[in-house]
Amino acid sequence: MAKVEMTVNGKTVSGEVEGRTLLSDFIRGGLQLTGTHVGCDTSQCGACVVHVNGQAVKSCTMFAAEAEGAEVTTIEGIGGNDGSLSTVQQAFQDYHGLQCGFCTPGMVMSATALLKDNPKPTEAEIREYLEGNICRCTGYHNIVKAIMAASGQDVGAIAAE
Ligand code: FES
Ligand code: FES
Repeated sequence: MAKVEMTVNGKTVSGEVEGRTLLSDFIRGGLQLTGTHVGCDTSQCGACVVHVNGQAVKSCTMFAAEAEGAEVTTIEGIGGNDGSLSTVQQAFQDYHGLQCGFCTPGMVMSATALLKDNPKPTEAEIREYLEGNICRCTGYHNIVKAIMAASGQDVGAIAAE
């Protein structure tokens, strides 16, 4: 076991981890931040996406020890301090970008990272960026719409379902 310390959602946190402890397990089990979901543990579904030093990362692909000293943001830290939703979260709500919600934390974290790098993505760019995020329910259409809306673009331009 080794001590690891990082900043998560603006707070310094620390804990004892094994070398093999995944960042996703540290976030969920160690910090009880269970908004980060684990759907596959094999780097396929994207439910576990968090931001590490501003980059979207599948937290099941990284050891907790590798995040030593990093700035980590989880879905719990993406909204305002007053509990308000982020622009992307609000757009998912407004455009029904979720059904069961299992993929949603990862989708929101990925979409937020996309819009930081590419504030006005095309529909094709959004779909390509989300290739690493699997949704079993929505058919993706409303997710794409929500991200277009969050970027201030006309959702009417999106191809019909
Ligand atoms: S749990 Fe990390 S990609 Fe599925
Ligand atoms: S809303 Fe159910 S998996 Fe995406």
